[in-house]
Amino acid sequence: MKTRITELFGIAHPIIQGGMHFVGLAELAAAVSNAGGLGVITGLTQRTPANLAAEIARCREMTDKPFGVNLTFLPSVTPPDYPGYVRAIIQGGVKIVETAGNNPQRWMPQLKEAGVKVIHKCTSVRHALKAQSIGCDAISVDGFECGGHPGEDDVPNFILLPRAAEELEVPFVASGGMADGRSLVAALALGAEGINMGTRFMATREAPIHDNVKQALVAASELDTRLVMRPLRNTERVLVNAGVERLLEKEKSLGAAMTFEDIISEVAGVYPAIMQRGEMDAGAWSCGMVAGLIHDVPTCQELIDRIMGEAHNLIAGRLAGMLALA
Ligand SMILES: Cc1cc2nc3c(=O)[nH]c(=O)nc-3n(C[C@H](O)[C@H](O)[C@H](O)COP(=O)(O)O)c2cc1C
Repeated sequence: MKTRITELFGIAHPIIQGGMHFVGLAELAAAVSNAGGLGVITGLTQRTPANLAAEIARCREMTDKPFGVNLTFLPSVTPPDYPGYVRAIIQGGVKIVETAGNNPQRWMPQLKEAGVKVIHKCTSVRHALKAQSIGCDAISVDGFECGGHPGEDDVPNFILLPRAAEELEVPFVASGGMADGRSLVAALALGAEGINMGTRFMATREAPIHDNVKQALVAASELDTRLVMRPLRNTERVLVNAGVERLLEKEKSLGAAMTFEDIISEVAGVYPAIMQRGEMDAGAWSCGMVAGLIHDVPTCQELIDRIMGEAHNLIAGRLAGMLALA
C-alpha cells in the first residue's frame, strides 16, 4: 500500500507505533520497523540524553529500517534536558521525530536543518493547523478514544479525522482506537494516510513489558478505561484498577480544590512498577478503549501482516463487492 505517509517516511506499510513511556524501547521500535511499519523510541523514558543516544545505537543494531524518536513536551517546573535530547537524536542520525504535548516550534529550525521529518501528535484541528504552519511534515490526529492524553475537547475520530481532512494540507495518520484492518480502511476512508497505534502494540510479543500488562489488555473490554486528572485539565485515559479507583475517589471528594500533590502517589513514577514488575494496581497507566479489540499477543510481524491482509481483503473484497452489486 502506497500513501503519502509511506512515501514520506520510506516505510512499506502506513502503520506507526506511537511513543509510549516505558514501552517504546529499542526492542519494540526495531520489531515494528523490521515488520515494515515505523517503530518509535520514547525519548523521555531514557533518563538522560546519553541514555537516549545509547538506546538509538541499540535500535540501530536491531534494524536497518527507518525508526523514529518520540519527544513529549510536558509542562513542568524543572523541564528535562530537551536541547540534549534533540542533540542525541540528530547526532544519532535519526531522521524522524514524533513530537507531542506542547508545540515543537522552538526545535523546528534545528530539526529541519538536520533533515529530520517531524510528525506532531495533537488532539484538535486547531493544534494540527498550528503544527502545519510551523513546518511539521505530518500530523498524528489523536481522537478521544486514544490511550494517554486525549486533550479536553472530547471529539472522537469519526468526526475529528474528516474535520482534519477538510482543513489540513500535510498528510495525517489516524491515532486512537486503531487495532486492525478495519481501523486502517476506515481511517483511509476518513481522509487519513495511515494509522498510529499505541495500546495495540503493547500486546505484542516484542513489547518489552511484563506479561501481566499484556494479559490485562487481552482481558479488558472497551468499557474498562477511565479518564483521570480531568479536574487538572491534564486528562489521561487509563485502564481501570484499584489505584485508579482510589484516584477517582480523591477527585470526587476533593473536587475543584484538588492539586497534583493530592494524587501524586497514583500517577507519578508508577510506570516502572507496572511495566517492568507487573504490579497491576500500582497506579494509573495509559490505555485506549481499543483494549476491547485486543484478543491476542502476536509478534509485530504477525500483527502488521494481519492488518495489511485484512485491509486488502476489505477494500478489494467486501467494499468492491458492494459497488459491483449496486
Ligand atoms: C502506555 C502508554 C504510554 C504512552 N506514553 C506516551 C508518551 O510518553 N508520549 C506520547 O506522545 N504518547 C504516549 N502515549 C500515546 C500513544 O503514543 C498513542 O498516541 C496512543 O496510544 C494512541 O491511542 P491507542 O492507544 O488507542 O492506539 C502512550 C500510550 C500508552 C498506551
